[in-house]
Amino acid sequence: MTTQLTSLDAQMTGELLPFDGLISALRNAFAEGCEVPVRHHHTIFNEGEPDATVLLMPAWHSAARISRYLGVKIVTVFPGNASRGMPGLTSTYILYDGQTGRQLATLDGGTITARRTVAASALAADYLARKDSRRLLVVGAGKVGSLIPDAFCAVRPIEHIDVWDIDAANSKRLVDDLRGRGMNANVADKLEASVEAADIVSAATLSTTPILKGSWLQPGTHVDLIGSFTPKMREADDEAIMRSALFVDTVEALHESGDLVQPIQSGVCTEAAVRATLAEMCRRSDVRRTSAGEITLYKAVGTALSDLAAATMAYERHLVAG
Ligand SMILES: NC(=O)c1ccc[n+]([C@@H]2O[C@H](COP(=O)([O-])OP(=O)(O)OC[C@H]3O[C@@H](n4cnc5c(N)ncnc54)[C@H](O)[C@@H]3O)[C@@H](O)[C@H]2O)c1
Repeated sequence: MTTQLTSLDAQMTGELLPFDGLISALRNAFAEGCEVPVRHHHTIFNEGEPDATVLLMPAWHSAARISRYLGVKIVTVFPGNASRGMPGLTSTYILYDGQTGRQLATLDGGTITARRTVAASALAADYLARKDSRRLLVVGAGKVGSLIPDAFCAVRPIEHIDVWDIDAANSKRLVDDLRGRGMNANVADKLEASVEAADIVSAATLSTTPILKGSWLQPGTHVDLIGSFTPKMREADDEAIMRSALFVDTVEALHESGDLVQPIQSGVCTEAAVRATLAEMCRRSDVRRTSAGEITLYKAVGTALSDLAAATMAYERHLVAG
């Protein structure tokens, strides 16, 4: 039997993952669940330059599923490449038949990561943000942040988008792109004023100190935090955590993100204050915002479950398209 291996580059992977379909695929995937072992994180000594890292993120469907898959995302991070003028990060997703282990496809891992991340945030916002949310503030206009407007427009009637980034050129680039596609977008000059005006605030930065202050949040705002993935990184301050009803993508967020690790360690909040995971939101109709005036905050650190859901969707759509 000949094995035909599909190879989907960044553009093809992206085109196969439109946000409306991807959000719906993630809704089903989080409700259904799959096997997700602890991710592997290995440090690689590199003589004369900073240590490199290889990260492996496997996931597979359980035997009960009719068509089942197994996938692994492999990410390499070589910080020393900056001095060579080469990208420091590579990311590949490999998809297998979950019953036979036959390799089916390789997909662009960076595209899978960026799109599944904002799609999961939009899915959470579909449960948590007010239905009449019209003003979106994007904080951090990098690879992930640039996709936030399209993902959130798939779940809420967004009419206005503010963009704020520590690097003004990045905000301008995203605003120009959004305006070029007919959206009503502006560079936010004053972060405080834009937070106060926003119905939804979504942050995807590399910040290590809080940039979003709880005192700026108005009743009814939904806050979406994507950036902080180590205990030392932080996007929102203690007051934001104290004033909000808290939600996470997975329980790992409690141990990995400084936005929760730090306030839990200092006693500002407890693990029990976290109301639900995204899987619980997808499974239970009683896990939602409780009033129009409640401030909701969703913190995500990412999961291999959503990588597998996105890779499966892209592969199956590619097969159907022939
Ligand atoms: N939660 C998840 O599942 C998930 C998935 C992918 C990426 N991430 C995280 O999201 C963040 C953004 O990723 P990316 O690929 O878009 O990175 P990126 O480097 O492409 O973009 C980061 C953007 O944030 C801006 N920025 C950096 N520090 C800032 C600060 N202190 N204040 C305001 N803006 C700041 C940068 O100017 C840049 O525009 C990273 O921390 C990344 O690890 C999380």
